[in-house]
Amino acid sequence: MTVFDDLAAEQDRLDHMLAGLEESRWTSPSGAAGWTIADVVLHLAQSEESVVVTTSGRDLRAGLGIGSFAMSIDIQALRDATDEDVRAINRLLPQLSGSAPPLDREAVRRIATWQGNSLLAARSAGDIIGILTLVMFPIPTGLRARIEDVVVDEAARGQGTGAALTREAIRLAQAAGARTIDLTTRPSRDAASRLYERLGFGLRDTRVYRLAGGGDDRRGRGSQDR
Ligand SMILES: CC(C)(COP(=O)(O)OP(=O)(O)OC[C@H]1O[C@@H](n2cnc3c(N)ncnc32)[C@H](O)[C@@H]1OP(=O)(O)O)[C@@H](O)C(=O)NCCC(=O)NCCS
Repeated sequence: MTVFDDLAAEQDRLDHMLAGLEESRWTSPSGAAGWTIADVVLHLAQSEESVVVTTSGRDLRAGLGIGSFAMSIDIQALRDATDEDVRAINRLLPQLSGSAPPLDREAVRRIATWQGNSLLAARSAGDIIGILTLVMFPIPTGLRARIEDVVVDEAARGQGTGAALTREAIRLAQAAGARTIDLTTRPSRDAASRLYERLGFGLRDTRVYRLAGGGDDRRGRGSQDR
């Protein structure tokens, strides 16, 4: 079963559950303090263009069994970057890799507009608090996708940003017709592994090889960071 099947099954279960709901029930309180059933459904049915993950001051924790919410997060693919965006990205990179040199605006633009790349940025109040790069490439066995360089600012973790970025990458890859979505993560990255497994990724029985310095690995080092 692929992650797409899981998402489709989840959607079917939600549809089935809502189909029998009487009109009056939509405005009745849900298990989440301060939220009606309609609020919860709206929250779960995230918009195509912009994933509104949270709403200020509301806490779905009790109702949905997930952590508390503090902010609204907007996910978009970057095409260009302001100087402030570049500064934010350069604050994130050291949290992902100790060996990644900072990027300038041109480098960010090059990554964002590279064919097959989607550089997703999660924003809270306009500021970039997380990034993810989705890479798609056609090969003889089909269109393949990879998720790379996922990082959320330390101060913003645990609020669904990593999940929102990953879900948006899955949506884009699915819309493009990707057969598979691959990613790798070091075993010590516990939060990342839990996140990916929660979203339906399974471990693949394969060997991952790397030739260090086989090209422009930023500074010619084979990175052990990711
Ligand atoms: C991995 C990483 C991207 C996760 O980002 P994040 O924004 O904290 O991710 P989420 O908030 O979606 O999920 C993390 C936790 O918050 C919880 N959470 C998820 N959605 C939530 C929500 N809407 N509200 C509150 N909590 C939520 C999850 O249950 C999860 O808890 P867990 O750690 O017990 O599994 C982040 O920890 C990070 O940048 N780590 C360093 C770099 C790294 O390891 N990158 C991955 C490289 S492959």
